[in-house]
Amino acid sequence: MNMIRSSRFYLCLFLFTTWFFSAHTTDTIDTSQILSDNRDDTLISSSGVFALGFFSPGSSKNRYVGIWYNNIKDKTVVWIANRDHPLTDRSGTLRLIEPGGRLLLLNATNATIWAANVSRSAHTPLARLLDSGNLVVTDANDEKNIIWESFDYPTDTFLPGMKLGKNLVTGHEVFITSKTNNDEPAMGGITYHCDPSGYPQNVIKEGASFRYKTGPWNGVTFSGSHNLVKNDIFTYGVVISENEVYYHYELINTSLYMRFTVSEDGVGQRWLWSYHTQNWKLYLTIPIDSCDIYQTCGAYGSCNIKTTPACACLSKFQPRDDRGWGNGDFSNGCIRRTPLNCQDGDVFIKYSGIKLPDTERSWYNASMSLQECKVTCLKNCSCTAYAALDISNGEHGCLLWFGELVDIREISPGQTIYIRMAKSELESGGRKREILILTVMIGIVLLGLSLFLFYQKTKKMKPETDRLRHPDETHEELELPMFELSTMSKATDGFSVNNKLGEGGFGPVFKGVLEGQEIAVKRLSRTSLQGVDEFKNEVICIAKLQHRNLVKLLGCCIQGQERMLVYEYMTNKSLDLILFDQVKKTTLDWPRRFNIINGIARGLMYLHHDSRLRVIHRDLKASNILLDSDMIPKISDFGLARTFGGNETGADTSRVVGTYGYMSPEYAVEGMFSVKSDVFSFGVLVLEIISGKRNRGFTLVDHRHNLLGHAWILYKEERSLELVDSCVEYSRYLSQIERSIHVGLLCVQEQTEERPNMSSVVLMLNNDGVLPQAKHPGFFTGRDIIRKETSHSSNTASSVNAMTISLLEAR
Ligand SMILES: *[C@@H]1O[C@H](CO)[C@@H](O)[C@H](O)[C@H]1NC(C)=O
Ligand SMILES: *[C@@H]1O[C@H](CO)[C@@H](O)[C@H](O)[C@H]1NC(C)=O
Ligand SMILES: *[C@@H]1O[C@H](CO)[C@@H](O)[C@H](O)[C@H]1NC(C)=O
Ligand SMILES: *[C@@H]1O[C@H](CO)[C@@H](O)[C@H](O)[C@H]1NC(C)=O
Ligand SMILES: *[C@@H]1O[C@H](CO)[C@@H](O)[C@H](O)[C@H]1NC(C)=O
Repeated sequence: MNMIRSSRFYLCLFLFTTWFFSAHTTDTIDTSQILSDNRDDTLISSSGVFALGFFSPGSSKNRYVGIWYNNIKDKTVVWIANRDHPLTDRSGTLRLIEPGGRLLLLNATNATIWAANVSRSAHTPLARLLDSGNLVVTDANDEKNIIWESFDYPTDTFLPGMKLGKNLVTGHEVFITSKTNNDEPAMGGITYHCDPSGYPQNVIKEGASFRYKTGPWNGVTFSGSHNLVKNDIFTYGVVISENEVYYHYELINTSLYMRFTVSEDGVGQRWLWSYHTQNWKLYLTIPIDSCDIYQTCGAYGSCNIKTTPACACLSKFQPRDDRGWGNGDFSNGCIRRTPLNCQDGDVFIKYSGIKLPDTERSWYNASMSLQECKVTCLKNCSCTAYAALDISNGEHGCLLWFGELVDIREISPGQTIYIRMAKSELESGGRKREILILTVMIGIVLLGLSLFLFYQKTKKMKPETDRLRHPDETHEELELPMFELSTMSKATDGFSVNNKLGEGGFGPVFKGVLEGQEIAVKRLSRTSLQGVDEFKNEVICIAKLQHRNLVKLLGCCIQGQERMLVYEYMTNKSLDLILFDQVKKTTLDWPRRFNIINGIARGLMYLHHDSRLRVIHRDLKASNILLDSDMIPKISDFGLARTFGGNETGADTSRVVGTYGYMSPEYAVEGMFSVKSDVFSFGVLVLEIISGKRNRGFTLVDHRHNLLGHAWILYKEERSLELVDSCVEYSRYLSQIERSIHVGLLCVQEQTEERPNMSSVVLMLNNDGVLPQAKHPGFFTGRDIIRKETSHSSNTASSVNAMTISLLEAR
């Protein structure tokens, strides 16, 4: 008896001392307990999967109350109570208060920093953390009666068991919101919802506008989610009832950890924990490609990622705005080539293999047959299309569209939709029509041909400049200011040497002043064989590319043989002038360098993936990165390679497209170029920005490596930080710098398929996700290089520089 009593005493003493002196862990909080940051208190779920406590994210000193995986060393936070109201010291306490059972987060003066608003009150409130990661407040005597739960107020993470959607009775919507950045969990601008309007579909929003829609739920998956399919890891579904509409997923093996997050870059990511490698693996992401971006091709346009351009009108439709469509602006979409005539009785034409259009303004009935659906649509003149609602078990239910159909893409296997058409579009009528069109077209071609011949004749008689003397004519179609040669000459002081800013791959650049505004005039070398019209088209295309990280084209000048491009002037000139200057480089601290890397990545991502032209730069290098007065990087010379690159093998072979030191192996050796070659150049640039050293011309006494090889060796030996420019104070940014080097190395992998694309690069730079291991970079130990290296081995001074160039000679 005594023994029991004394052991109890010691147990109590033990509990007391642990409570008092060290971290206090508990599995419930009642109104008499306080969870204190000072004591490092944590609340642990019953099987120990999740923990709730105080933490500081990234390099921040701010304190937050959050929930994380208890068994994962690298703290992965899935929920934050006070994301927008951090505590600035460790005085915070979390309490459950009476009456009612509100959870409150208080600071040193007991002022409320954050409160959980309960809908009802509990008699004896109790807070518990469930093994699902849900923090719930219930009545101690009735644990089913939840009065508040964190799953109703998620942060940026959507966990298994959570309901993402809307309670139609209370109007409360559960959605996730991105963080501002890694160190700052405050609400960012990107949200992910299950949107019930019309017919449910999941959406990623950027502020108030839509960035991506999954397409409607079809009983199996979302119509446009090619990567969300039946699998062994989790089940998922959309629940639609009178009271609520939500999307949810559940793990099949609940020992696994899975989470879905939305990043500040507008990407939804599903992560799966790998017990084996002890890190998070990216399971899937949305959006996947540029065809996924909402409304890429406008109304009745269909996006096909495999074609160039990606947008095309659905068959029996034509561009609403031919000129825009021809110039790569698809936003005006398409219209029926034969207008509808509801009174005459319309018909429906079947389109298969597509992502169903946006259902924001749709109507549905789950119990109708497809035939009833058709009749219903036919009866209403504003109904434009119908489709089966559910394809999980044959086709049933009815989904109707009203108004224009947007956000269609080709997808495999895809779904079928029946689009309303004028009766005359039906097969037989169609054929007659086609014959008619053909006849008319032949006529037009003949007429055009004779006009052209006539025009050619007259053209020969007139001098070239005459046709360009009326800039107003060309103005209209250009939507881009055309300047006279005389204006350009005046602005640049007669292209004076004093105003010369530099010499790019395509000609010299002059500084000028036009109507008080500073400009940069690029005088293109007179080597292009392009005609005036071709050139104009290209310039219009370039002018359409607009992004914060691209230099803006202000206008152009075409006169006689002269072609000039007028750009905005960048106060801080080009990156190379600062980065490789021993004095000026000291102004580039790490945050600035990181911003520059990020800006270039975003600009390039736009060129590769988001712009309607899909441009490969081909000559990305430090001297082509201009810096504005705020040191925001702007890529210049984009689109020019596209304009002129085509002539590479033409008359003028003196022009080198691409620059030593930035060229990828496949381009240098085989002349093959793809977006991945730009990625390579980007990788070189990243390593140059971090090290402050040029890849070309890099020599290290005891190494025979170029900058890439040097970076890789350091990386392999986990000494990456030694690469950092000695003038950069980096102690506060260790992980960001290491990550950037890692990403830089991934970009310069020898094999193109091992280099990430630019959207992944942007993601990798700005997330904590696990990166693949980098292998040796291109131009390092590749077979070609070894061969070249040995053949040059007599030349003892052969630095890597010589090696690179010898390789380039192999072209
Ligand atoms: C805050 O509340 C606790 C518990 O109710 C109390 O012990 C403490 O004195 C209060 N602190 C201040 C500054 O009011
Ligand atoms: C709780 O309710 C108050 C008043 O309605 C509101 O200002 C506050 O933002 C709510 N807090 C949370 C965490 O929802
Ligand atoms: C569930 O996953 C865990 C961890 O990977 C594994 O050990 C266990 O065998 C799995 N259980 C089932 C039923 O597959
Ligand atoms: C849905 O269709 C069924 C079968 O045609 C019909 O009985 C029912 O009234 C319809 N519901 C609505 C809301 O129109
Ligand atoms: C056609 O459908 C629209 C949208 O649902 C509705 O507002 C309109 O009243 C309908 N017209 C007829 C004639 O049923």
